[in-house]
Amino acid sequence: MADRVRIYEVGPRDGLQNEARAIPVAEKLALIEALAATGLDRIEIGSFVSPKWVPQMAGTDEIVAAVPRVAGLRYGLLVPNVTGFERYLAAVPEGFDGEIAVFVSATEGFSRANLNASIDESFERVGDVVARAVEVGVPVRGYVSCVVRCPFDGDVAPGQVASVVERLRELAPMEVSLGDTIGAGVPETVGAMLEAVLDVAPAEVLAGHFHDTGGRALANIEVSLEAGLRVFDAAVGGLGGCPYAPGAPGNVATEAVVARLAELGFETGVDEDLLAEAAALARRIKMGVVA
Ligand code: HMG
Ligand code: MG
Repeated sequence: MADRVRIYEVGPRDGLQNEARAIPVAEKLALIEALAATGLDRIEIGSFVSPKWVPQMAGTDEIVAAVPRVAGLRYGLLVPNVTGFERYLAAVPEGFDGEIAVFVSATEGFSRANLNASIDESFERVGDVVARAVEVGVPVRGYVSCVVRCPFDGDVAPGQVASVVERLRELAPMEVSLGDTIGAGVPETVGAMLEAVLDVAPAEVLAGHFHDTGGRALANIEVSLEAGLRVFDAAVGGLGGCPYAPGAPGNVATEAVVARLAELGFETGVDEDLLAEAAALARRIKMGVVA
């Protein structure tokens, strides 16, 4: 049997959060419906962050209430603090298959820009969220940003990333996604970072989250596969960017990742034709030409 790789689709969240046009909820729902039909089993559909910070994600409550429910498909929602977690709990309908994602940075500069908090302060907030989520039985995922380079602090030492991964996993045994937020990584730097992180967490609990700014995301996925990682975040149509990371457009495109994985002999369970339709819709949304 072929080795299985999970794609964690982040297009509706990471992909759209940075778009200047206020994208109507109906368009986001159409994209999520198209993605839900492809066989993906994880889709991140929005954020319960401050709407003052990320106006594009303001309609997340409505989206959560209306997304199609598909057996085996779990929806992810980004949550920065307990206020966001309470919004999650209030928004999810009965029986919703959901999980939250908490996020921290490996660097002080990005932590301040993205969360208005130092790394230590952000861990206090995230610790409160994780404790609440564990208490009520909501699964948690974690993100670490700037695992290779920070737009404010420059190159990041691999040990700094490992220490943040370790701190997250002390909160709860969560999957941790390693974010090359500004797409600055190359196989050498990503490989060195992974070596340090693998000292504190096994490959089974790690995911790769590569923005493709430098055009090396697929190569970075390959080096991560060699290190044993089997979960990769990607955004349909290559949508993406973080509003608080200057120069961070473009998550790696899901369709490119799925195609490369198939070439390498990995199974993803994603239908490439249906994914191509979702990618076409993503591009129309980006261009603002949805009928
Ligand atoms: P703050 O301004 O320090 O927060 O922001 P605050 O607690 O002082 O609150 C300020 C106001 O926001 C208050 O309202 C709060 O009630 C409200 P006011 O009294 O002024 O009317 N507020 C909220 N409203 C709704 N939902 C909430 C919430 N929290 C506070 N959850 C905060 C701190 C963390 C809230 C802010 O910095 C924030 O929302 N940051 C999120 C930024 C973000 O979403 N960035 C993009 C996602 S991360 C990413 O893309 C990276 C990733 O893809 C991996 C990678 O690529 O590296 C994951
Ligand atoms: Mg990202």
